[in-house]
Amino acid sequence: MARTHGPVVELRLGPGRTLLLSDPEGLEQVLLSDARHCIKDKFLQDLRRVVGNGLLTSEGDFWRRQRRLAQPAFHRQKIQGYGETMVALTEEALRPWGSGQLRELRDEMMTLTLAIVGQTLFSSPTETIAQRVGDAMEIVMERYTDPVALLVPSLVDYPLPGSLRFRRAAGELDRLVRGIIRERQREATPREDLLAMLLDARDEDGSAMDEQQLRDEVITLFLAGHETTALALSWIFVLLSLHPAADARLRDELRRVLPDRPPSPADIPELPYTEAVVMETLRLYPPAWSLGREAAAPLQVQGYEVRTGDQMFLNVWSLHRDPRFFPDPERFLPERWLDGLAKKLPRFAYAPFGGGPRQCIGNGFAMMEATLLLATIARRFRLELLPGQNLDPLPSITLRPRGALRVRLHRREVASS
Ligand code: HEM
Repeated sequence: MARTHGPVVELRLGPGRTLLLSDPEGLEQVLLSDARHCIKDKFLQDLRRVVGNGLLTSEGDFWRRQRRLAQPAFHRQKIQGYGETMVALTEEALRPWGSGQLRELRDEMMTLTLAIVGQTLFSSPTETIAQRVGDAMEIVMERYTDPVALLVPSLVDYPLPGSLRFRRAAGELDRLVRGIIRERQREATPREDLLAMLLDARDEDGSAMDEQQLRDEVITLFLAGHETTALALSWIFVLLSLHPAADARLRDELRRVLPDRPPSPADIPELPYTEAVVMETLRLYPPAWSLGREAAAPLQVQGYEVRTGDQMFLNVWSLHRDPRFFPDPERFLPERWLDGLAKKLPRFAYAPFGGGPRQCIGNGFAMMEATLLLATIARRFRLELLPGQNLDPLPSITLRPRGALRVRLHRREVASS
């Protein structure tokens, strides 16, 4: 529709107006210049059932204060410190891997990125707790792949099987996360992770965050911090398996830079092709494929009158496949990023992490994590996608693979750790 009808398209999707915005200028207006007149859209408002009023879903001064409190945990230097943990946990996950084995790619990546968020931001609740958090999240997120549940949100209040499953899992998530917080409050040894910062944070009047708010922020970061990165990594290995020439080029770079050891954050500048594979995958399969906003006041977007209450979908998927910015847009070509393309593109033509004040707080964290995990895994294994699988994406809040992604592992000949 974006191709046929242009940068602003009015969609008929239930009551009220919904607009599809597919031009960098429209994104810039909504995410940056008119950001103060926009709030998160109805789907993200619904996500409050799970994450409460955390960073992703809160608004206004309250959001601003929480963002200020969380920001230091994401400073460049702090993130560099997480790099060692990311690689160590990946090496540990690879220990049982062997040539010829079959694995389910998305599950493997979800477990790994969940462990990384748990360890780096919350100094690791035990593996069992992290796994239970992951399982409960998997169930609550099913709601956001079900169009009926989303078009009739009140169904969740009726005792239907899907609603009961959702409510049970949301309750389990709540209990687990409150358990993590309470355990930490009892601990005598001080820590230096994000949870410690949130616990120590004080308002101007000296008051601390209450347990409900801590809970909301911790669930938000668990969710926002693992699912997107796990999906990015899953799509990376799908694309590499489908494009052997790109896989060979990646292998050559990894052999040259990391002949006999796993990577560290200091190696990233020497791994331009590895990083380009991440950038190109985020272009073709952006985990946040559409960003939603609701107009909180009337505004004009690219000459179009937007009314209060209108829903807006910022169409990152189409933007990333726009031939004006990406020649031969459907092709997986990591090379396109090697000559400084990122700096030449118009602002908001490439927006896997959104933009403006609500830009992903974990942008640097995620780029480093994806690059390091890709390097750690791909220097030791090639992942071959089994034939006959459904590779269509399922557009939920995030862009998920529709079915299981079964891969066969092949150990690379030379590298050893
Ligand atoms: C490839 C991985 C990731 C992608 C593609 C991604 C994408 C995004 C996008 C597009 C937004 C903006 C949403 C909007 O404007 O409505 C966002 C927000 C956010 N992301 Fe990420 N993200 C990733 C990884 C992470 C990680 C690793 C963390 C934390 C460790 C994280 C935490 C957050 C949080 C807390 C927000 C809300 C920020 C705010 O509104 O202040 N994300 N993410």
